[in-house]
Amino acid sequence: RIAYVNGMYVPHREAAVHVEDRGYQFADGVYEVCEVRGGRLIDERRHMERLLRSLSELRIDAPMPLSSLGVILRETVRRNRVRDGIVYLQVTRGVAPRDHAFPKKGTMPGVVVTARSIDATKGEKTANEGIAVITVPENRWPRVDIKSVSLLPNVLAKQAAREAGAKEAWYVDAGGKVTEGSSSNAWIVTKDGRVVTRKADSAILRGITRTVLLDVLRDHGLKLEERAFTVEEAQTAREAFVTSASQLVMPVVSINGRTVANGEPGMLSLALRRDFHRFAE
Ligand code: PDD
Repeated sequence: RIAYVNGMYVPHREAAVHVEDRGYQFADGVYEVCEVRGGRLIDERRHMERLLRSLSELRIDAPMPLSSLGVILRETVRRNRVRDGIVYLQVTRGVAPRDHAFPKKGTMPGVVVTARSIDATKGEKTANEGIAVITVPENRWPRVDIKSVSLLPNVLAKQAAREAGAKEAWYVDAGGKVTEGSSSNAWIVTKDGRVVTRKADSAILRGITRTVLLDVLRDHGLKLEERAFTVEEAQTAREAFVTSASQLVMPVVSINGRTVANGEPGMLSLALRRDFHRFAE
């Protein structure tokens, strides 16, 4: 395997960044995860636009023009011979003597790109079984709309899910409403067939998969409600699912041990999953 690190393609096992990289010391950086399918990057433009937004919210300089970043992403995918999988891009504020405040102007952002294959049949198998979800109290900072590498609460939430035999953890805010998953957006389908997901304000990450799915919903003539929902509403919903670049549309069949509907992946969830790539770029 090959990784891109600050201007060079290096063997993955030797890929390293400086001990004073601010991503390492302060989690002072942002990232993107983009699906690779048939060797092509899915929704590259949208991911790049979100990256720029994350960088600008944190006032990190763009490391290079987006077109150059795109070349590196595709070259990393090619060098790793990834047909189906993901490409990971991380940009940090760079290497500087440790000091919380920004380093002096001209510090070069740190750029790392990795790519790996994922067995597509595995994802399909999981989707046909559905996943279990647990809920955890929302404990992240109020700017989770920025895709920052500061992911400790997400790490702890995902670990709690794993220890509970679940695949994802949904955060529940102080008002008892679900915000999103530790690495995905959360959705339900109501008994009367409306699709519900939280409004993309600063309480959730505006998922690219979420954005594309809105087009799929429109094409299916489905009614969308962008609003928060409670855990109980999700448990008693007709269907529930999560979305992310790595899981696409993934049916949820239990929440905190309570089965959703009959405990089988929802028909609509599976249909949206099937049609997703017709609307992705
Ligand atoms: N996670 N919400 C959170 C907190 C996420 O980390 C992600 C993505 C999403 C979905 O965004 P998108 O549809 O653009 O992938 C929502 C990535 C895949 C990850 O951290 O691995």
